[in-house]
Amino acid sequence: MLKKHYQKFLSANNGVQHYACHSHHYWPDITRDAMIAYWDDSAAYVDEKWDFFFQEKVPALQRHIANLLNTQQPEQVVFAPNTHELLFRVLTSFDLSEPLKIVTTDSEFHSFTRQVNRLDELNNVEIVRVQAQPFATFETRFVEAIKANNPDLIFFSQVFFNSGVAIGDLTGLLGQISDSDAVIMVDGYHAFTALPVDISDFRSRIFYLAGGYKYAQGGEGVCFMHCPKNVLLRPLYTGWYAEFGELQKFKSRKVDYSKAGFHYAGSTMDYSGVYRQLAVFDLWGREKVSITDVHHHVQYLQKAFLQQLSELKLPFLNESHLLTLSLDHHGHFLAFELEGDMAARLHDYLKSHKIVTDYRGNRLRFGFAPYHEVADIDLNCLRQFDA
Ligand SMILES: Cc1ncc(COP(=O)(O)O)c(C=O)c1O
Repeated sequence: MLKKHYQKFLSANNGVQHYACHSHHYWPDITRDAMIAYWDDSAAYVDEKWDFFFQEKVPALQRHIANLLNTQQPEQVVFAPNTHELLFRVLTSFDLSEPLKIVTTDSEFHSFTRQVNRLDELNNVEIVRVQAQPFATFETRFVEAIKANNPDLIFFSQVFFNSGVAIGDLTGLLGQISDSDAVIMVDGYHAFTALPVDISDFRSRIFYLAGGYKYAQGGEGVCFMHCPKNVLLRPLYTGWYAEFGELQKFKSRKVDYSKAGFHYAGSTMDYSGVYRQLAVFDLWGREKVSITDVHHHVQYLQKAFLQQLSELKLPFLNESHLLTLSLDHHGHFLAFELEGDMAARLHDYLKSHKIVTDYRGNRLRFGFAPYHEVADIDLNCLRQFDA
């Protein structure tokens, strides 16, 4: 649908079928100009560039994100180079010498899982991991686990990274858990700019994490958290950006925090990602492309892909291996759970045929993007695969 805007990445990868876009999308050509604009602005503004970024670029990107999440609270958006930093900032708001109970799932990305596994080594920390499968009963079991455990923190993904399965009704789920006393964090990385997302009803209740590296196409280094207004925890892991604007005033040793999203900020980061991300959003604006349009395009590609796969009649890779509850509530990649080391072997075989996928354990993932067309899908080499 937007293929003409990706000529640089497409020609650098001529002949490649790129199905790893759930990990990182190709960047549209316009982001190259954005990188150069970042350099030029750095040269033009030198010491004043931070004022320029904070007066122009940061608010512009905050507005886009607040619109995309339908919160109308741009000031509640804070940036960081990765989501791990933001999530750790919230984690260090808890007194880690006191009992801490976290209810989460067994299907969270490593940034979270590794971090809480490490915390779990502390005697006072308890992690309750609700299995994502069976998907049909996940939401009920998750709500039950929250009611039974009375956690301090609830953390879950809107779209699971290891299956692509999406929470069917995020607002409905949040409605069932929002009366808990817990801090609620939603990892929206596989949903943001893939599925239409609306967190307006719970904008003052949840922390919503996502970033630019995947579907938003802004590349690495431009992650964000939409923070609930007036939830002013005191992160132990804090940087001077959290008090930006106060630096020239006389300071006692008391650590104060900004009142809006930058309450949860760290410190100096590379803002070239902000430039790239703004360029992508401006492009979508010019092309009048909505997230719903992108989502429909990807759903169409997924159907065409599955149709071609079923015509191949492959015993080792077919729809019976597909992890999904309903493709109507699914992220932008298809994950197949395969026997033994088949995922790794197929990944390597496909790569040798210029078909780029990735796998997590025994799950092979195929992602789809706005720069794909149905005519690009060609799985015929799988006929020769020696299973
Ligand atoms: C669900 C999910 N969350 C977060 C991330 C990225 O984490 P970080 O920003 O800490 O690198 C990924 C990356 O692949 C992911 O799949």
